Amino acid sequence: MDKKTILSGIQPSGNLCIGNYIGALKHWNKLQKDYESIFLVVDMHAITTNQVPSELRKRCLSFVAQYIACGINPEKNDIIIQSHNSHHAELMWILSCFTYQGELSRMTQYKSKSKNLKNINTGLFTYPILMAADILLYQADLVPVGSDQKQHLELSRDIAQRFNKHYTDTFKIPEPFIPKNGSRIMSLQNPNNKMSKSDSNSNNIISLLDDPNLIRKKINRAVTDSGSELTFDKKNKPGLSNLITIYKALTSDSIDVIEKRFLGKMYSHFKSDLADIIIETLSPIRDEYNMLIKDKDYLMKILAKGSNNGFRKSRNTISKVYRKVGFLPKLK
Ligand code: TYM
Repeated sequence: MDKKTILSGIQPSGNLCIGNYIGALKHWNKLQKDYESIFLVVDMHAITTNQVPSELRKRCLSFVAQYIACGINPEKNDIIIQSHNSHHAELMWILSCFTYQGELSRMTQYKSKSKNLKNINTGLFTYPILMAADILLYQADLVPVGSDQKQHLELSRDIAQRFNKHYTDTFKIPEPFIPKNGSRIMSLQNPNNKMSKSDSNSNNIISLLDDPNLIRKKINRAVTDSGSELTFDKKNKPGLSNLITIYKALTSDSIDVIEKRFLGKMYSHFKSDLADIIIETLSPIRDEYNMLIKDKDYLMKILAKGSNNGFRKSRNTISKVYRKVGFLPKLK
């Protein structure tokens, strides 16, 4: 039987952070064994906010190297830069004719992103349709993401079901894969906000490429809450609970075990152990990244393979869709 397909993507904005690792990359790594996998660098999504072109180009390549350094096997899976396959944009247009304005305006990410902007570009509004196109184009079965993408994924399913109902079965209905632990890692300084790779205050995030000293400093400075007992209590101790969530995700120890381990010990003891664990996880990734990023030719070849395979896979979907909506085929 053919393997099922997983698909996921990350926006090349800011620096990949431990939130992206715990919420997404770590699971991509595990799932790739059992699935045919497509991992996107969604540069078209990234331009919904201002980007410096030369930096965006560099960041895309850097993200590819970081995916591989996190354990994604580039030979076995396809790593694709979104703009390298024009089918994404083509399908997005069609799907936008099956998406309601009301649905898009209910998206919480759009509401929070557009809150402080004067001129909201339409791309920010239609962003979830492009995400639906990413997923449906490759007939993905499973989409591993953090919990902030749940609503977008539900919309993708709704659009697919609507299209299938209007014509005949065309798209697979994708299932979300949202980890039980660590699907929403919070900011180190403001534990009521999500940790975000594009945060302008770098003290809020641990970047995958931070060096050990910096990691230790950031964890030491992370907001903990008053009291001295190490207990997991999201409501009353959001800062500490966030650090425990990170500890749990990186060690697979249960909260019970962690609480017992640090019973009667100071927060500083826990923070020092947590910093060690993060450093142990990220150091090999950083070392591997430093090697990979020097070999641009290799990375470009991986991307050429990815987009060629991707284009072949998505061509079936796009021609089916064109036929179903009634477009006149071109003479070959
Ligand atoms: P993006 O780039 O914001 O985030 C990439 C992935 O990391 C997860 N994530 C987190 N998980 C836990 N804690 C956090 N603090 C945290 N921050 C981010 C996200 O949930 C995501 O899985 N729209 C998507 C990118 C995208 C996509 C797709 C994803 C475009 N097309 C198709 C899946 C399938 C986004 O902006 O993710």
